[in-house]
Amino acid sequence: AAAIRYEAESATISGGAVESNHTGFTGTGFVNYDNATGSAVEWTVNAATAGTASIGLRFANGTTTDRPMDISVNGTVVTALLSFPGTGNWDTWQTKTITAAVNAGTNRIRAVATTANGGPNVDRIDV
Ligand code: GCU
Ligand code: CA
Repeated sequence: AAAIRYEAESATISGGAVESNHTGFTGTGFVNYDNATGSAVEWTVNAATAGTASIGLRFANGTTTDRPMDISVNGTVVTALLSFPGTGNWDTWQTKTITAAVNAGTNRIRAVATTANGGPNVDRIDV
C-alpha cells in the first residue's frame, strides 16, 4: 500500500517544540528536539495488516555532527542508534528508512535522541 504521512507536529512530543522557522517541511512545521538525551517524538500509526512496514523518517540536521536516535515500535527498540548525519543546513531534508514488524491496527513508533545534542529536526514519518 502507499505510504501514509504522519507529521511530527501532530505527534506526541516529549522534549521538543513545533517550529516553522526553516523551510522545506511538509504540513505546518517540524519538531525541534530539545538538545538533550531522551528527547522524543512518538507517532501512533495504523497498519491494515500485521507484517513488515517501511518507516521513512524525514529530518534535517544543520550541523556536521551525527544525531543518532533509537527507533522503537510498541516499546521495543527495532533500530538502535540510527544515524541522522548533517544534511548541509536546517532547510535541507533527507529521509532515513528502516523496516520493522508492525501489528494489525494501532502501533506506537518512537524516535528518541541518544546524545546531549538531541535529535535532528524531524518533519514526519512515512509508513
Ligand atoms: C538551531 C536551529 C534549530 C535546531 C537547533 C539544534 O537553533 O534553528 O532548528 O533544532 O539549532 O541545534 O538542535
Ligand atoms: Ca534542536
